[in-house]
Amino acid sequence: MTTTQPDIRPNNPQFSSGPCTKPSTWTLDALSDAALGRSHRAAIGKNKLLEAIETTREVLNIPTDYKIGILPASDTGAVEAAMWSLLGARGVDMCSWESFGAGWVTDVVKQLKLENVTHHSADYGHLPDLSAVNFDNDVVFTWNGTTSGVKVPNGDFIPSDRAGLTICDATSAAFAQDLAWDKLDVTTFSWQKVLGGEAAHGMIILSPRAVERLETYTPAWPLPKIFRLTKGGKLIEGIFKGATINTPSMLAVEDYLFALNWAKGLGGNAGLIAKADANMNVLADFVAANDWIDFLAEVPETRSNTSVCLKISDPRVAALDADGQAAFAKGLAKLLDDAGVAQDIGAYRDAPAGLRIWTGGTVEQADLEALAPWLNWAFETQIATL
Ligand SMILES: Cc1ncc(COP(=O)(O)O)c(C=O)c1O
Repeated sequence: MTTTQPDIRPNNPQFSSGPCTKPSTWTLDALSDAALGRSHRAAIGKNKLLEAIETTREVLNIPTDYKIGILPASDTGAVEAAMWSLLGARGVDMCSWESFGAGWVTDVVKQLKLENVTHHSADYGHLPDLSAVNFDNDVVFTWNGTTSGVKVPNGDFIPSDRAGLTICDATSAAFAQDLAWDKLDVTTFSWQKVLGGEAAHGMIILSPRAVERLETYTPAWPLPKIFRLTKGGKLIEGIFKGATINTPSMLAVEDYLFALNWAKGLGGNAGLIAKADANMNVLADFVAANDWIDFLAEVPETRSNTSVCLKISDPRVAALDADGQAAFAKGLAKLLDDAGVAQDIGAYRDAPAGLRIWTGGTVEQADLEALAPWLNWAFETQIATL
């Protein structure tokens, strides 16, 4: 290893886990057809919103009898709308293994104040024992834990004949991992993640069973207008045809349409998954070849192909106290940022010290290959200061 800077730089140093880098073909000009300055309820705007919904269905292979809606407030808005509208009808099993999942637990226990709640949690790097989850209850979980880089390998842990509903925050999984639609009753994501879109709006995808619950159950608590998916005991069908609850950003919609069409050009969901897998493999090869760095996710099948979280396993760093380890990892991220080769790759603020490198489909494999030698450069530079 050497502390001389590598010759080749990533063409694009953006490896943020959200907002994620845009497709390499993206330009502001690509949004010139946006329905700006017009009512979103005029035909031009509504058609674009409907196109966003139906192209989402096409790219993600969502069953025709599932409802797809565009909600305010990004992924958080969609998850909150689901939990506030649906939970309370039966017990709830909450699964969390990193900070976003833990945030949903706080909501259910401290804000909704539900009492019949079982929490299945695991430390960063692990999944909880999913075989202990009671699917007679409603179950809330995050498909890909963005801040630990731990994902569920597939939907096999969810029984087909469950009595409860599954509510899945799939924001850093959608468009990179194969979502098992028959096992998911409510799925949410934001445009800002794998497709590199804007963060304004959240997508909610409802199975027929979720719709049935919405139409037969009224929560005991008041629901703010932006969470309300039903009126007079009936689903507000318009939301699922592009008549959004409140005013959307048509610029963000145009940007999402661009990203969806880009995704189609890549081969749709299968193409996106293959690209994220290939990207992730660049980092897996790097980890295998270097013993100072390792995955935070212990079990290979649970390793994310989007938010790759890495820990520094070098004994000289492991011997430092928690603050020292955090400072070391932050120093690495800063060196790489200052060198102009990697932006926003520090671990999430609540996660263990380390690096988090996005490998979703908008990232180019060649950029990860160019980044790898720089990781060694940063490590050698930083370790020399200890
Ligand atoms: C798993 C997960 N859930 C929720 C969120 C919040 O998403 P948003 O800020 O788009 O609402 C994020 C953002 O990183 C996330 O990774």
